[in-house]
Amino acid sequence: MTHAQVGLFAVGTAAHAYLEFDRTSLADADRVVSAAAAIATAHDSTTGVNLVIGFRPELWSATRPGALPAGTTSFTEPIVGPDGFSMPATQHDLVAWVAAAERDRLFDVAAGIADKLGTIVALADETHGWPYQHHRDLTGFIDGTENPTAAEAPGLVLVADQMPGSGGAVLLVQRWEHNYAAWTALPDAEQERVIGRTKPDSVELNDRPSTSHAARTDQDEYGKIFRRNTAYGTLSHHGTMFVGFSASQRPLQAMLRSMAGLDGDRDALTRYATPLTGSYYFVPSYDDLVAAADQA
Ligand code: HEM
Repeated sequence: MTHAQVGLFAVGTAAHAYLEFDRTSLADADRVVSAAAAIATAHDSTTGVNLVIGFRPELWSATRPGALPAGTTSFTEPIVGPDGFSMPATQHDLVAWVAAAERDRLFDVAAGIADKLGTIVALADETHGWPYQHHRDLTGFIDGTENPTAAEAPGLVLVADQMPGSGGAVLLVQRWEHNYAAWTALPDAEQERVIGRTKPDSVELNDRPSTSHAARTDQDEYGKIFRRNTAYGTLSHHGTMFVGFSASQRPLQAMLRSMAGLDGDRDALTRYATPLTGSYYFVPSYDDLVAAADQA
């Protein structure tokens, strides 16, 4: 049996950093993978700080052939809906997702990781996330209601045993900026029709519109994913850091296409939030990381 990276399901931490790096000309793929794997496997999560490492799918498979779920690719093409609504492709080579109880410890661990990686990579994008009103996102709605339970999740959203990349997951990281003025101008009843659930307690609407976010991403139709979204930003620029993973890329990609209106109505939420980034990473199992680190 393979073991997932523990940080994937370690919910409850208040401070998150999503550090996305690009490989520099100083390093080949093997060196980047083995260095990041060595950092991840040396990291001690019993300190209360969690670290999840993910790789651009092609970078990982170049180093560890046969250890990537079939069909996993980078986010290299924007997803463009029939009306021109577009989700940008901003793929990077490596993600380090650090989560801690306090921002100071988060800062120290994140800085330590960047230091250890040194000049073989360059920090290309960085977002710091935090929980909003415990389990809500900045729309004010509860986010994560339809996540699989902790008991079910590993069986549903990790690559199954005996499959290429077993114990790993495909991670989508996508930063969405909210239009605060437009959203807060909507009465709550209209907001509920955009999401497809009630605002105080996240009950599914009986007459959920086909444009609602919950309808456009319905897991009974597209497959199971696990979401760990956080709020990010400042008063002038803020929104949702979408952080979701699955046993394969298929459900995630199908949901994005659906939200853009490529298989029906466009998601009403996309009229109030704009995607600014989008990258897919493969998050290998802990066992595969150990093997990659040893290879160094
Ligand atoms: C601005 C960005 C986003 C916000 C604010 C947001 C917020 C929400 C909220 C409030 C819910 C309802 C409660 C729940 O079940 O969690 C929800 C459901 C969901 N969202 Fe999002 N979401 C965003 C982007 C995305 C993206 C990009 C995806 C997929 C790639 C996605 C996938 C889902 C799924 C699978 C559900 C549950 C659907 C179901 O099975 O009922 N969301 N989201």
